[in-house]
Amino acid sequence: MSKIDFHSHILPGIDDGARNLETSYNMHQMARQQEVDLMLATPHFYASQDRIDNFLKRREEAWVQFHDTVEASEETEPRIILGAEVAFFDGISRARDIEKLTIQGTNLMLLEMPFEVWNSQQIKEVEYLIKERKFQIIIAHLDRFLWIPGNKKWIKELLELPVSIQINADAFDSWMHTRNLVKLFKEGKAHVLGSDCHGAHHRVPNLQDGRDILEKKAGKEVLEQIDRQGEKLLSAILK
Ligand SMILES: [Fe+2]
Repeated sequence: MSKIDFHSHILPGIDDGARNLETSYNMHQMARQQEVDLMLATPHFYASQDRIDNFLKRREEAWVQFHDTVEASEETEPRIILGAEVAFFDGISRARDIEKLTIQGTNLMLLEMPFEVWNSQQIKEVEYLIKERKFQIIIAHLDRFLWIPGNKKWIKELLELPVSIQINADAFDSWMHTRNLVKLFKEGKAHVLGSDCHGAHHRVPNLQDGRDILEKKAGKEVLEQIDRQGEKLLSAILK
C-alpha cells in the first residue's frame, strides 16, 4: 500500500514553502527517508493575490526546476503529483477555471477553509462545489479549525457533506488532540494525512512522526485505513 503525503509546500520559490531548489531537494530526501511513496505538491493559491493562469505558470516553472534536479540525482522517490492548496474565497463555487487547480489527473481539490468562524454561506459554497460542480473536496488540515471557538457547529455541518478530511501530521501534539483526532479517523470522519511541510529545518516533512503516534494510540489498522483511503482518492492516477 502507498504511503501518501497529501499536503506539502515542497516546490521551490512559489509560496511560503521551500525557499529554493536546495531546500526542496532536502525536503524530498527527508520524505524518502520516511519511505513516503507519493507526495502531493500543493502550493498556496490565493484568489485575492493571484490569477489562476499566472499561478499555473509559476508552478510549472518551479516544477521543471525541481523535477530536473530530482531526475539527475536518480533518487526519484517519492513521486510528486502537482496540485494546489486552494484558499476558500467568497464566490469560489461559481468561479471559472478552478478545475485547473485540482490535483493533476483527478477532480480532487484541496480546499483551505478560512481561519475564522465559518458561516452558512461558506458551507453552502462547499456543497455547491461538490454537488453542482462535481469536485471531490479534500478539506486541508481540519485539525487547525477544530479548536477555533464557536466553529464546532460549522465543522459538524461540513462533516455532514461528502468531503474528505486531511489532518496534519503535527496535529497529534497533545494527548487531548490525539484522542479527538483518533476518534475522527475511527469514525471515518477523517481520511488522509499530510505533512504540510514548508521547509527542511522548520515545518519539515514529518509524515512518519504523525503515523508513529497514530499507530501507537490507535493501532496499525488506522494507518492501513488511511493508506487505503488515500489510494482510493488517487485511484485515477495510480492505475
Ligand atoms: Fe498548507
